[in-house]
Amino acid sequence: MESLLSPVLNRKLLLCAIASFLGFLLLSCSLQRASRPSTAIASLTHLESTSAMADLAGVSVPAPAPQPATAATIYSPPPQSAMEVEMVAASPSELVLAMNSSPGSSQAVHPSPPADGGEETTVEEKKCDIFEGKWVFDRWRYPLYQPHWCPFLSDQVSCRRNGRPDSEYEHWRWQPSGCDLPRYNGREMLEKWRGKRVVIVGDSLNRNMWESLACMLYSSVRKERAVVKQRSSDYKLFRALDYDCSVEFFWSPFLVELKEREDHAKILKLDKIFANGRRWLGADVMIFNTGHWWMHHGKMRAWNYFQRGDQVTEDMEAAVAFNRALRTWARWVDRNVNPRKTIVFFRSISPEHKTENLHFCYNQTKPITNERYVQWFPKSMVDIVERTIRKMTIPVTYLNITRLSEYRRDAHTAIYTSRQGKLLTIEQRLDPTRHADCSHWCLPGLPDTWNVLLFASIMTSSSSIISSTN
Ligand SMILES: *[C@@H]1O[C@H](CO)[C@@H](O)[C@H](O)[C@H]1NC(C)=O
Ligand SMILES: *[C@@H]1O[C@H](CO)[C@@H](O)[C@H](O)[C@H]1NC(C)=O
Repeated sequence: MESLLSPVLNRKLLLCAIASFLGFLLLSCSLQRASRPSTAIASLTHLESTSAMADLAGVSVPAPAPQPATAATIYSPPPQSAMEVEMVAASPSELVLAMNSSPGSSQAVHPSPPADGGEETTVEEKKCDIFEGKWVFDRWRYPLYQPHWCPFLSDQVSCRRNGRPDSEYEHWRWQPSGCDLPRYNGREMLEKWRGKRVVIVGDSLNRNMWESLACMLYSSVRKERAVVKQRSSDYKLFRALDYDCSVEFFWSPFLVELKEREDHAKILKLDKIFANGRRWLGADVMIFNTGHWWMHHGKMRAWNYFQRGDQVTEDMEAAVAFNRALRTWARWVDRNVNPRKTIVFFRSISPEHKTENLHFCYNQTKPITNERYVQWFPKSMVDIVERTIRKMTIPVTYLNITRLSEYRRDAHTAIYTSRQGKLLTIEQRLDPTRHADCSHWCLPGLPDTWNVLLFASIMTSSSSIISSTN
């Protein structure tokens, strides 16, 4: 891998030189410069804490059995040749082409007129909102991996394995309107994350995102050089040994602490960060989310009382409690995270497609194309998140995936899933209004795109950062 790097860089430089000589492809060059591994983050961390070391003694997942080449696997080469495919795709010319193939990309580049009649042109780069765009059907490039490459994918998300008959939902690619996304490449991601620790913290939707990311990275390494530990649903770990890189998931649906009292009453402590918060520390990349659990009513509601300071109360509006908890989280991040070492992301609300949202996910095979479609999820909650992040001292990159995911009513697990660790029974499948899961997403599927956007944010500077006020 190392020996490959410098020729690749040289070729990049050469290509950029040719491109600027021709007077176009300027954006591509600047994007490629931006995407080169940064040397700014010098302090690499190793997993040194004892608890983390214990967690590393996980299971090594065996390589999947070679699949016979059937019609269905024509475009799904076995992992070994997939690496070659990726290498080809990562060649600079491919990236240049990919970045210029969209008519929309011209909007991102505004060559200004030559100053004083000089030869040189300067490029004024308009910021591209990668979360603004549309879904395009892309049978060849998507999905990014085959589910049998990642035997550790859970029953909850393995729609194909669970008998989902259609597969179009796997083939949609997100196309921003102002630019093209860099083509996802697992080895580039791992190279960028060499010696680093990535933690994903939040509810089961962030677990969904972890499963997707673990599989996307696992597909790029030799199976015996990967460690996957995922026996507990509260903590999961992927580790690429050759890159000294780990990606962990910590379950923490409120980000603040939920504690059961002696009388079994459950207290949501709005002023206290989640109990295992200490274990998130030291990460180089942190990706948070929260939201859904605050909206739960009735039987689903996880708490009996809120606590703020010494005061325990039953009645507080969800939005008020949510705001307070997010501020607790923000304060914790501001105090504990070193912005020179750590990049912090917040993933926005993942939408559901229940009957309340006028689009039940069951039996859906196509994304929503009506651009005026709006979701039921309260805008006020989204506003609280955006406002909180804006007020923070530490810059937080907002993965604004809500809108693009709203279109994807076809991408949920619906009846091809498990509940409490058991696959839905035939009887349950016949009663989708009661049993379909319209919150979580199939894999391969939508969360892969969230991770492609994460990749884009890490490799280029085109992400929409909600910067702090100072
Ligand atoms: C689901 O889709 C199938 C195929 O289009 C159709 O036969 C069936 O009636 C649909 N079921 C419901 C409940 O809409
Ligand atoms: C997130 O996306 C939505 C919909 O595209 C947009 O209205 C909102 O302003 C975005 N939020 C931020 C902070 O960029």
